[in-house]
Amino acid sequence: MLAELACFERQCRARFPIDEAIYNCPVCGGLLEVAFPEDRADSSAWKKLWRERRLSNQGIDQSGVWRYRELLPFDGHHHQVVSLREGNTPLLDAPRAAQYGGLDRLTFKHQGFNPTGSFKDNGMTCGVTQAIRLDRRRVACVSTGNTSASMAAYASAAGLDSIVFIPHGNISYGKLAQALEYGARTFQVEANFDQILALVRVLADRLGIYLLNSINPFRIEGQKSIIFEMLDQRDWNPPDWIVLPGGNLGNTSAFGKALRELCQYGFIHKLPRLAVIQAEGAAPFYEFMKCKGEFRAVAEPKTLATAIRIGDPVSWPKALHEVTVTNGSVEKVSEQEIADAKAIIGQCGIGCEPASASTLAGIRKLTAAGTIGPDEDVVAVLTGNVLKDPDYIYRYHTGELKDPDGRKIDARLANRPIVAPNDADAIAKMLEG
Ligand code: F0G
Repeated sequence: MLAELACFERQCRARFPIDEAIYNCPVCGGLLEVAFPEDRADSSAWKKLWRERRLSNQGIDQSGVWRYRELLPFDGHHHQVVSLREGNTPLLDAPRAAQYGGLDRLTFKHQGFNPTGSFKDNGMTCGVTQAIRLDRRRVACVSTGNTSASMAAYASAAGLDSIVFIPHGNISYGKLAQALEYGARTFQVEANFDQILALVRVLADRLGIYLLNSINPFRIEGQKSIIFEMLDQRDWNPPDWIVLPGGNLGNTSAFGKALRELCQYGFIHKLPRLAVIQAEGAAPFYEFMKCKGEFRAVAEPKTLATAIRIGDPVSWPKALHEVTVTNGSVEKVSEQEIADAKAIIGQCGIGCEPASASTLAGIRKLTAAGTIGPDEDVVAVLTGNVLKDPDYIYRYHTGELKDPDGRKIDARLANRPIVAPNDADAIAKMLEG
């Protein structure tokens, strides 16, 4: 039996065929999700099968997304899969970061080890495969940089045309460079992410372009595999907490859905709690969860963690559900806290981009507040590679980093480069003396 698209709004739940190119419910305008038939899983057989696939030389088995294809909605279409061997990202112990975060132990699931250096690849392999299934030749997205890098790569790998829209001047060069190198037509628009998303939705409708933002339910399906793989790597022992950054809140939606499905099908018997961390200048979800009432967008989001510089996250209704169901938490962190946490993750020999470091900064606040206990089992998801934003790193370590309001970030953990003469004696003296 095939999966369907279902409206996420509980009072609607309208259903649509899996091969309809829709992003919102045509009945009520709500978000869409993939709904699977009820009794479809045999958890112990699938756990064994997924382990065995790690030894296989088949591309589809080597992918850390498609290895878990029984829980993805592509039955009958596996021959169309577009894969760059995404996923397969490590769990890394980080004692120094644990100490900084007020924990006995902390593990990072590092999505920066993906082919284009971010967690977006887990979703994009499914999004582009769905474009192929629907026979679409052109795909588009608006992005703070990582989605565009990923979409450009997967679209080119599949022979599709890709069109990228990014906020002019507000994404890192590493990410912009990837979109160009992978061959996307790249528009730098004089507007912020939220404004461009509205624009791109109009264009996608008008020109019949397939939209690959995280509003696309197939992206969310692919990102579920981050959780599948993490739990597989932990022999299906769920941690107490999973901590992740929140921007457009697609990943929060994906993680919650993955956990609910794994519980429903008997893979795990306890739901880890989700902790979502936002940057102070772009924290509409944090404010909403604190005060409830109406969801208010932030008109001019600001943060140096440009990946999460989003003021009107489309997936907030899903994220609300997932944080509530998992009895989770939402925190916000300052620019200084992100910068310091990032330097600590670097000192662990791990490294990540600024948005990812919000996790450790958030953990430090949540342990200080007693929300997370020091002996709890915590996995933080590092969403992007350290080399995504080298400019930020250089400025931090040379004491030149300023927050979006022009205030200097204190380079507390700076490791300044040293200018030296071409003289062995002088350098020896600098090293020894
Ligand atoms: N971390 C990184 C490195 C990101 O690139 C993003 C989002 C997030 C966290 C937040 O994830 O949106 O699912 O809550 N980047 C998107 C982009 C918006 O266009 O690349 P989210």
